[in-house]
Amino acid sequence: MTSPLPRSANAWRLAHLSDPHLTVPDWRHWREMLNKRAPGYLAWRRRRRHVHRREILDALVQDIGCQQPDHIALTGDLTQLGLASECHQARHWLEQLGDGETVSVIPGNHDTYAPERGASPLSLWGPWMQDDPEPDTSSPSRSCLTQSRDNRAAFPWVRRRGGISLIGTSTALPTPWTMATGGLGDAQLERLAECLSRAGQRGDYRIVMIHHVPCPGMIRWRKRLTDMAAFRQVIRRCGVELVLHGHAHRPLLGWLDTPTGRAPALGAPSASLSHPEPAGYALLDIMPITKGWSTTVTYRTLSGHSGHWHFTTRDSARLPDVNASTITAA
Ligand SMILES: [Fe+2]
Repeated sequence: MTSPLPRSANAWRLAHLSDPHLTVPDWRHWREMLNKRAPGYLAWRRRRRHVHRREILDALVQDIGCQQPDHIALTGDLTQLGLASECHQARHWLEQLGDGETVSVIPGNHDTYAPERGASPLSLWGPWMQDDPEPDTSSPSRSCLTQSRDNRAAFPWVRRRGGISLIGTSTALPTPWTMATGGLGDAQLERLAECLSRAGQRGDYRIVMIHHVPCPGMIRWRKRLTDMAAFRQVIRRCGVELVLHGHAHRPLLGWLDTPTGRAPALGAPSASLSHPEPAGYALLDIMPITKGWSTTVTYRTLSGHSGHWHFTTRDSARLPDVNASTITAA
């Protein structure tokens, strides 16, 4: 049993994991596969099922438990092909991971792999992917996941934990074969600006969760965030304290301009990858300090082999402190 990394008594510990790709494709009707899913299934059979391994994910979840986080943030790509049966499998796994009070989820591009004929099966993840039970009454009105084919209509959600606001976005939408792009869309960007402004007015430490990489030059063109410039413009105008993303399957650090400086964007490794990059996750200790916040990030990465996995602390760094007076609400 791993002992938890030391932390200050008043630190709020967040575990950030991403891209577990934990499901096994299992379709109920051939019509479900008459699209991009057919070549996607072959790619999974040939390669992906050998590199994303459930035993690695299980070891990672066990290590997270040892670190006793106050909350878990999961930035998408739970499935392979976004089939309804896979969303059921992922829901079962989420139920084991924790309830909606302690686990927050956003979808990734694999979770909306092909267009749906009816409502999005992502509604199965509702308890982990929605506003707090008693949402901010001034929250922008949104369609329910069960009523919309475009899951993005239900985002962003906002969850408050103490003085921390978690804001979950969706960039997940079906794309042509070979493409893995994503986008927020103008309507969601508008709502995101409202959420950031309201949380800023409260003086909250704002964390935005987004699946795609929000910084230029870090990922291939076919995997890009198509409206990255518009997203960065919202951040430049409304501010944020931290952005968490996935999609790249490796740890990344980028920066976004804010009205008072710049904010870090942290990318998590895949939570189930055997190679070429090691699996891992990030632990963030966020702590109130005099007139502001401090944030320490620690990456835990896995090594070893089947049945003998162990995690090592690879990098640990204190991010620039946030001065409460610089949290803005443009
Ligand atoms: Fe992805």
